[in-house]
Amino acid sequence: MSKIVTMIAPVNIAVIKYWGKRDEELILPLNDSVSATLDTNVMCAKTSVCARPEFFENEIWLNGKKESFTNQRLENCLHEIQARAADEKSVSVEFLSWKVHVCSVNNFPTAAGLASSAAGYACLVSALAKLYKVKSDVSSIARLGSGSACRSVYGGFVRWHAGVNHDGSDSVASQIADASHWPEMRALILVVGETKKKISSTSGMRISVQTSELLKHRIEYCVPLRTEEIIKTIREKNFAKFAEITMKDSNQFHAICLDSYPPIVYMTDVSHYIIELVHKYNKTCGEIKVAYTFDAGPNACLYLLDKEVPKVVSLLKYAFPTSNSEFITGLSVQAEELTGD
Ligand code: PMV
Repeated sequence: MSKIVTMIAPVNIAVIKYWGKRDEELILPLNDSVSATLDTNVMCAKTSVCARPEFFENEIWLNGKKESFTNQRLENCLHEIQARAADEKSVSVEFLSWKVHVCSVNNFPTAAGLASSAAGYACLVSALAKLYKVKSDVSSIARLGSGSACRSVYGGFVRWHAGVNHDGSDSVASQIADASHWPEMRALILVVGETKKKISSTSGMRISVQTSELLKHRIEYCVPLRTEEIIKTIREKNFAKFAEITMKDSNQFHAICLDSYPPIVYMTDVSHYIIELVHKYNKTCGEIKVAYTFDAGPNACLYLLDKEVPKVVSLLKYAFPTSNSEFITGLSVQAEELTGD
């Protein structure tokens, strides 16, 4: 007797960045953040979860390699889903006692600033929620795996509310608009480096919270206003303003990394060259047509409208003649179940 569920979950790329925690254990952020969830056909995590009475212990395979399940974040996610299932009485007590095996793969570089943990934990939690028939919102559980994962639980444009409660009960994600709201929106991912980042986002955030004066200014004065402004640009489909805020927020996040002590550097010369190219392109166009944003790594995510894609791709081919590491994608719905797998 066994039950198996396979899900795919998308990556999300923030346009208002989450950087800094107020509670490291519950993964509660200092600020609200906003992201777009990308289409699963280009970049996604695929996770199968299986429960059987014969399993002796919980086990996990990541990208084909067996990893230890004694990882606090992993255990917290499983434990919270099981507790929710017990509350909702969605499965039998016997089923809840069975051990689980998890198998997860990403179709893009892991831990190189491409939101792999976001897709991975969103996928794991969504698959476990299906396995245990949990019906309520699971974004706060995905958050326990990796903060930004809570945003990948929903499609389209998503806001993660920092919340104010100590127990994190109001630190959840909600959808601003679904993918069909702005069907022309595209994301172009430029893979600059595939190596693992030197400083994890957890360590980087800790250093910034402890040492950056600029971070305090950002949290208090910049993010609250920017969050409301960018949500308005999404609702009104005002691309130029959306792009401007996106670029400014990425720049401010990396300025905070440099303001941290010792400084944290995620972008490379190639990343800076991409920034320069985008600004030159926008200047030549006479208006903002493309936005860049960089997470905790050198890879770029360009947001643009579909009519701009051919021109921007030719520019990139001209600037990086030997490179073919780019993916073009639209926005996505949400984590989906795969059947017959
Ligand atoms: O969720 P984490 O711990 O991988 O942190 C993500 C941090 C950024 O990607 C830099 C910003 C964000 O909001 O996704």
